[in-house]
Amino acid sequence: MKILVIGSGGREHAIVWKLKQSPKAGKIYCAPGNAGIAQMATCVDIAVDDLPALLAFATKEKINLVVVGPEKPLADGIVDTFKRSGVKIFGPTKEAALLESSKVYCKEFCRSYQIPTADFEIFTEADEALAYVRKASRPLVIKADGLASGKGVIVANDLATAEDAIRRILVDREFGAAGNKIIIEEKLVGEEVSFMAISDGNHVLPLASSQDHKAAYDGDQGPNTGGMGAYSPAPIVTNGLYDKIMERVMVPTIRGMVTEGRSFTGLLYAGLMICKGEPQVLEFNVRFGDPEAQPLLMRLSTDLVDVLWNAVTGNLEKVPLLWDARPAVCVVMASGGYPGDYEKGKSIKGIEEASDLPDVQVFHSGTKRAGDALVTDGGRVLGVTALGKDVAGAIEMAYAAVSKISWDGVQYRKDIGQKALRRTHA
Ligand code: AMP
Ligand code: GLY
Repeated sequence: MKILVIGSGGREHAIVWKLKQSPKAGKIYCAPGNAGIAQMATCVDIAVDDLPALLAFATKEKINLVVVGPEKPLADGIVDTFKRSGVKIFGPTKEAALLESSKVYCKEFCRSYQIPTADFEIFTEADEALAYVRKASRPLVIKADGLASGKGVIVANDLATAEDAIRRILVDREFGAAGNKIIIEEKLVGEEVSFMAISDGNHVLPLASSQDHKAAYDGDQGPNTGGMGAYSPAPIVTNGLYDKIMERVMVPTIRGMVTEGRSFTGLLYAGLMICKGEPQVLEFNVRFGDPEAQPLLMRLSTDLVDVLWNAVTGNLEKVPLLWDARPAVCVVMASGGYPGDYEKGKSIKGIEEASDLPDVQVFHSGTKRAGDALVTDGGRVLGVTALGKDVAGAIEMAYAAVSKISWDGVQYRKDIGQKALRRTHA
């Protein structure tokens, strides 16, 4: 089977790495890919949002299965475009991708189908939004409606921050049309969990649990990022909580999307806050989480080609998902300054020594080749991922690998996995 993976991050490297282990995978292409992906697939220089060029390539190469990594092409309707041309593609249609691309749609959907989420109001006028927050007596979260690369959410613990967020989105138009509407919602307190499931439109096949580390610095301090590390499983997700998440969030969402006439095929990712043992939806994403995909796919024993193929052909009940019982931990190594300004083009040393360690995979995100050298080419640069016999072992091995890798200005969190460790020992 000829496969095309779309994207260029650690998530896509992990997807390509896992697909390549399948006896059913023939030639694998990745658009545009990165230096790590280029070692195991043929990278083609087409941007993720150049839908006509991607379709022309897939048609010319007679690609049998397309796997979409990031949200942008899904929100733009890549699945609709490819399906119209008869190309099998894993991901939701544009209408179903609204669960991620419009936070207003997501919140109203949750309200309609009684899926637990924070109380909220929707505003289009700054005056009304300002009047609302001035009357509110509790901390709020202000969210731009559309895609804003994770920057459109402002947790406002005081009135000044809330007012500033409203002005930035609705008056200064910092996020352009993505900020035509805002949501103002109650701030929830608890622990965040990422819960993903694959669906063929009807069946819901849950993945193992995982947890991200969104804040830039140790102790969950500093600005939010795309994710600075992740582990799987998440010990907070007990069997009881797992059942609640499936019954109250995942299954009603897939059912609700059928009722809405926009049945969901692809990967559904619920960003959850666990508040006193109860799951509350913070957001939905319609694609694998990054970095969560890295530890998850290292633990997946089932053939990923089988899983994705059965999802796009409506046969998901035929595949059981099997997992390596060992936990996996991924530490993201980033460019100094990320998520703010950072420099590119720094020479990266030590990846081979790190990769030689047992049960370690170094997934690339922002890397490229410059002559013979491997250099940094983005904010998040590498996802150093390790399996261990227990959480402590996985953490130790991931950081042993990290310690072998260096470049000028490298930045990473030193506390990835500590929350899981505390719970395991609690
Ligand atoms: P979102 O993109 O909606 O998931 O928001 C990004 C991040 O903002 C989340 O991962 C949380 O850390 C935080 N956040 C969003 N909504 C809330 C909320 N209602 N209460 C507390 N934190 C939130
Ligand atoms: N790691 C969070 C995300 O993929 O959105």
